[in-house]
Amino acid sequence: MRKKIVIANWKMNHDFHETSFFLRNFLKILLEKKINHNKEIIIAPSFPFLHISNQILQGTTLKIAAQNIYQMDKGSYTGEVSASMLKSIGITKVILGHSERRELFFENNDILFKKIKIALKYGLDIIFCVGETSFERNRDQQFYIVKNQLKETIFHCTRDEIGFFYIAYEPIWAIGTGKNATYEQAQTMHKFIRSLFLEKYGESISNRIPILYGGSINNLNAGDFFLQKDIDGGLVGKSSLKIENFLKIIQS
Ligand code: 13P
Repeated sequence: MRKKIVIANWKMNHDFHETSFFLRNFLKILLEKKINHNKEIIIAPSFPFLHISNQILQGTTLKIAAQNIYQMDKGSYTGEVSASMLKSIGITKVILGHSERRELFFENNDILFKKIKIALKYGLDIIFCVGETSFERNRDQQFYIVKNQLKETIFHCTRDEIGFFYIAYEPIWAIGTGKNATYEQAQTMHKFIRSLFLEKYGESISNRIPILYGGSINNLNAGDFFLQKDIDGGLVGKSSLKIENFLKIIQS
């Protein structure tokens, strides 16, 4: 039985004060109210606050993830952040391949594979996002697109390396639109993704790999997503920004 996982992707929201306020109060409520959620919880704040966030969560089961890394080890890349820098402040996870990075910052599968390799070199777990546009879904190309996103990146990895991955299926038309995929659409895609892992890496890896859904998850729909057989949790944007909403989602 795979444990459910909820990841908060705060994107470019929450400044220093909001980040520390959220984390301290969230923890306080979890402890004082003895909230029983039975989920792996990961929070992805912005780069400048990763260190303090990690310190606040020290000694708890909650983990911090970065939202990006650069694909090179080190050097003259003004403004970029490397995997080794994250490692040096105790960060163990990174989100890669988010559609906003693909679309706004032109990260294609070649670049993403380089990022995967450098993340793996420093032993970072990778939350790897895939998903189709509405144009592609309207033409029934979603399975082809997602398969290709995996084939050109993760599927170059060895069996051992696959142990470092979480997959997040985020249909682009559902991100930030309030128009979530139906449970059936999400479950169908998750089952398809799992079947690709079965084909490529065999049964034990395909049974183990966590596949999360992302795209307009909120406190009302999260529970039904988490009930689906092949959905192992959620990657949550907007609804992870407020403590009360996020608390409801982790208890769904
Ligand atoms: P929303 O939950 O705001 O739709 O964002 C989803 C997302 O992009 C998480 O990575």
